[in-house]
Amino acid sequence: MKVLFLYSFPLVLLFTACSGTRSTTSLPVNPYEYTIQKKVTGTNGAVVSAHPLASEIGVAIMKQGGNAIDAAIATQLALAVVYPGAGNIGGGGFTVIRLANGSNITIDYREKAPATAHRDMYLDKSGNAQTELSQNGHLAAGVPGTIAGLFDCMKYARLPFKKLIQPAIDLAEKGFVLTASEAKNLNGNKDEFIKYNTVTPVFVKPGGWKAGDTLVQQDLANTLKRIRDNGAKGFYEGETARLIVEEMKRANGIISYDDLKNYEAKEREPVVFGYKTYKIITMPLPSSGGILLPQMMYMIEDQPVKQYGFQSAQAVQLMTEIERRAYADRAKYLGDADFYKVPVKKLTSKAYALERMKDYNAQTAGSSQTTQAGVITESEETTHFNVYDKNGNAVSVTTTLNGSYGSKTVVGGAGFLLNNEMDDFSIKPGVPNMYGAIGADANAIAPGKRMLSSMTPTIVLKDNKPFLIAGTPGGTTITTSVFQTLVNIMEFELSTEDAVNKPKFHHQWLPDEIFVEAEFPQAVRQQLKQMGYKVTQRSSIGRTEVIRINANGVIEAVADNRGDDAAASY
Ligand code: GLY
Repeated sequence: MKVLFLYSFPLVLLFTACSGTRSTTSLPVNPYEYTIQKKVTGTNGAVVSAHPLASEIGVAIMKQGGNAIDAAIATQLALAVVYPGAGNIGGGGFTVIRLANGSNITIDYREKAPATAHRDMYLDKSGNAQTELSQNGHLAAGVPGTIAGLFDCMKYARLPFKKLIQPAIDLAEKGFVLTASEAKNLNGNKDEFIKYNTVTPVFVKPGGWKAGDTLVQQDLANTLKRIRDNGAKGFYEGETARLIVEEMKRANGIISYDDLKNYEAKEREPVVFGYKTYKIITMPLPSSGGILLPQMMYMIEDQPVKQYGFQSAQAVQLMTEIERRAYADRAKYLGDADFYKVPVKKLTSKAYALERMKDYNAQTAGSSQTTQAGVITESEETTHFNVYDKNGNAVSVTTTLNGSYGSKTVVGGAGFLLNNEMDDFSIKPGVPNMYGAIGADANAIAPGKRMLSSMTPTIVLKDNKPFLIAGTPGGTTITTSVFQTLVNIMEFELSTEDAVNKPKFHHQWLPDEIFVEAEFPQAVRQQLKQMGYKVTQRSSIGRTEVIRINANGVIEAVADNRGDDAAASY
């Protein structure tokens, strides 16, 4: 479906009247009139992301001679402006790259616990977990990693950083029109933006936002200019660092100058594993996806899931039991491997996966030890995008503030939201985080440690060449959605659109329930209930983006229907 936002005429007039000599000519897109394209094809390159302006900017960078890595950097910076709910410079993420020369690269720019963070920092005197503090406001923020991650990516880029960041600066300075859903989201968070800020952020508009309004972010533009002019130091040192530390001091925050100066992105050893004739590349720890995805793919590999049929009760039951087993291991064993000895080799071996499936009983619901039931909330704002270029470079990026608009705290004078990623640690063994996930020692808070993530940016190779680039936001549902999307295409042979848009389901061990989207077939729900499962309908699951590279060279980019997500190509 193509949705056209025809807000340009009055807004361009208003913009011209307000901004005098400014023009949008330096921008490769018109931020006052844009279309949302859900599926595109091309032969030179494609980008699919949570926002049409960001996708278009990525393609424009490739047209100007950039490769997929240049496009990914520009797309991520643009998302930090046009998609404030999750696009970010105040958060972190993971990037998986497959270069045309055959090398695989994974870059970890996950947030870190500040140096004065400690294991029990979110417990009150009686030892009760105070999730309000780990989820909202200054104390919820980990040390941001995004800018360090982008500069690490620059090793593989072609164009100067100044060129890649300029579209984001222009979008922040000149403004862009809001979609209906972004206006609704900003309005829905107004009270929290007021509550968790010491300086009222630009996201609060008296009378509320409506579709077609222009959002200008001058403070953010100034921060981006400091990064343009001073590199990573423009964020981690100097004026931006001062603004962050001052913001911390005005409330209960603990991020210090040293925390910022010492932050480093890390290139990690990619997780690469075989599935039938495919090779799958994904992110290692602190992404739980690098453990859970191979586990789940290995558990399903020898099962006759294709025969069962897409979304048959048999197939859903099998996949649910696979998800249950993988997530039980997540809760017990997974955390930042720099701090905790995680039995990675064993957890990701096929032999172990098969062992785990020995007690699988078709037609009968399994059972989780329900020591603690969690609640899955609707707030799962992370964002994913994919890029592919004509030379065969593929990039898969998932980046996050954690919850929608992160901690809801904007750095006064710097114009960007801080993450609430500290909640992704296990703040107390057995206490569910905002996604209902529980954890243990492996994911306890420690200074400088990275909190466990579900983000699973993934690239699938066929005949050793990129075939699928995939990922999604969605908190703990991320890995199950990536798993289902791959199985949908590689086993059920669904079209890319169906693989992305057909209803998804999710089981994460605890709570012991299958969560399904509203469109999930009623008949299958009934059959699952008869097998003994608790089936619970919930809000939508993820916003999956896929680029598929077909054997004839046609690049197909598909954006999820669940949001404003859009694909662009040339
Ligand atoms: N904050 C969501 C994740 O990293 O999994």
